[in-house]
Amino acid sequence: MTGLNGRDFLSIIDITSAELEYLLTLAAQLKAGELTADCSGKVLGLLFRKSSTRTRVSFSSAMWRLGGQVLDLNVNLTQVSRGEPIKDTARVLDGYLDILAVRTYDPAELQEFADYAQMPIINALTDLEHPCQILADFLTMQEAFEAPLTDLTLTYLGDGNNVAHSLLLGCALAGINVRVATPKGYEPATAIVDQAQTLAGDRCTVTLTDDPKAAAAGAHVLYTDVWASMGQEDLAEKRIPIFEPYQLNDALLAVADPTAIVLHCLPAHRGEEITEAAIEGPQSRVWQEAENRMHAQKALLVALLGAD
Ligand code: CP
Ligand code: NVA
Repeated sequence: MTGLNGRDFLSIIDITSAELEYLLTLAAQLKAGELTADCSGKVLGLLFRKSSTRTRVSFSSAMWRLGGQVLDLNVNLTQVSRGEPIKDTARVLDGYLDILAVRTYDPAELQEFADYAQMPIINALTDLEHPCQILADFLTMQEAFEAPLTDLTLTYLGDGNNVAHSLLLGCALAGINVRVATPKGYEPATAIVDQAQTLAGDRCTVTLTDDPKAAAAGAHVLYTDVWASMGQEDLAEKRIPIFEPYQLNDALLAVADPTAIVLHCLPAHRGEEITEAAIEGPQSRVWQEAENRMHAQKALLVALLGAD
């Protein structure tokens, strides 16, 4: 490979299933030390409008370990916060950086960066998708199961949000059976579900339900995320009783496959979307999943920068 050199990564379906497989293999090899890559002389920019621990630090650490440099472009310290147009900012940054990861609210803003910058633009989370997270999730699943990903069923419980969207699309791309259980009115966007169903074809199933127990039955992965995402803080209290039946807990783990693992993109709210027992229990792989953000993004940086 790779045809990934110079490309943007705005959605998990900006890559083909073969490219996804390639990135996961590359990530595993980099993690195991079987392969090294060199990004010295390259500069990664991080332009984040929202808080971040994992994405910011894992991208920084990945780039440093590859020999590259990182510029954390705190939005408040740039002219972006004073309204400089994105199309101007994108073209200016293009002259200074080799690759840029953007975390923002509106996916249209991310698209504008991609439209105006020549360098690869990475989606570090928008309100619509979180594709970097899914690379780490699949790497963790690959490590946890001997069976190929195509033999697995992943169940997502909770809000039909950005993470749910990328999981739906990513599972369909990888051929993983995916079930999404949400309260009525909190389903994933119809356009995303339609895309996932088209992509899945007859290779895997895409199921939406409001029944958490049916969704969890026999699943190999139980996955959840916060009930109120960044920017929805004022809705958090109101949502608790609505989402309570979708909590990832021992009752749902009891009906899942006996080998099932627990994933959560983090940050977690114990006692809300996940119990202390589930996140700290023997089936949890959340800390490995968090570490894998760095390994997966190392592979992504190497491939997009053509250093593989
Ligand atoms: N999972 C994730 O993206 O975490 P951060 O918001 O801390 O980056
Ligand atoms: N859905 C969450 C994911 C955080 C990584 C949010 O957008 O806040």
